[in-house]
Amino acid sequence: MKTIALWSPKGGVGKTTLALNLAAAAYANGDKAILCDLDPQQSAVDVFNDKKLSFTVLKGMPPVSPRADVMFLDLPPRTDIDVTGDIVLIPLRASILDIRAVNKAIRHVRHKRLVKCVNAVDVRRQDERMLAMRMYSEGAFLVKDRSIYSRAISLGKTVFDLDLYGAREARQEMQRLYSILTD
Ligand SMILES: Nc1ncnc2c1ncn2[C@@H]1O[C@H](COP(=O)(O)OP(=O)(O)OP(=O)(O)O)[C@@H](O)[C@H]1O
Ligand SMILES: [Mg+2]
Repeated sequence: MKTIALWSPKGGVGKTTLALNLAAAAYANGDKAILCDLDPQQSAVDVFNDKKLSFTVLKGMPPVSPRADVMFLDLPPRTDIDVTGDIVLIPLRASILDIRAVNKAIRHVRHKRLVKCVNAVDVRRQDERMLAMRMYSEGAFLVKDRSIYSRAISLGKTVFDLDLYGAREARQEMQRLYSILTD
């Protein structure tokens, strides 16, 4: 089983949104996914409680290793925690302050595969587009700003459960990211 942690020193950058949609991408790929919500806010658990997801969200870490192909960990935005997982997906916004904060914070995370994900990129804004392209050229994955992500969560779902404007592109984006992470 592969463990993928979603972690960032910054709050509100899309950790929970990406964790939920990547777990749904796993399910769409025929893989069994578990999402462990390790953030005291329990936002992923709240979505799970709407009972519409195709996978399970656990409160905290399970006492024994679950039977799954992939386990996602939704971590709180703190630098004083142990960042576990085989791979750490680090969402950040296309902002110079986020880039600096992430670069400082990752010095403390050793011996892990780190994948940066510039999330919610507003391609209409030239400053964001330029920064995102620079990050992309340095190996980051880009996820566009799409209202379908917030819409899906407000319905207790993921982009894999909706057929509204932007859902197909969002699904493709999540499937590409999932395949990079599980490569
Ligand atoms: N790609 C995206 N496009 C549009 N909106 C997005 C995208 N990703 C996340 N959002 C929105 O950004 C907000 C913050 O996302 P989310 O709660 O997933 O961040 P977080 O990092 O888990 O926050 P916290 O640190 O509080 O746990 C939410 O309103 C979510 O719907
Ligand atoms: Mg969160």
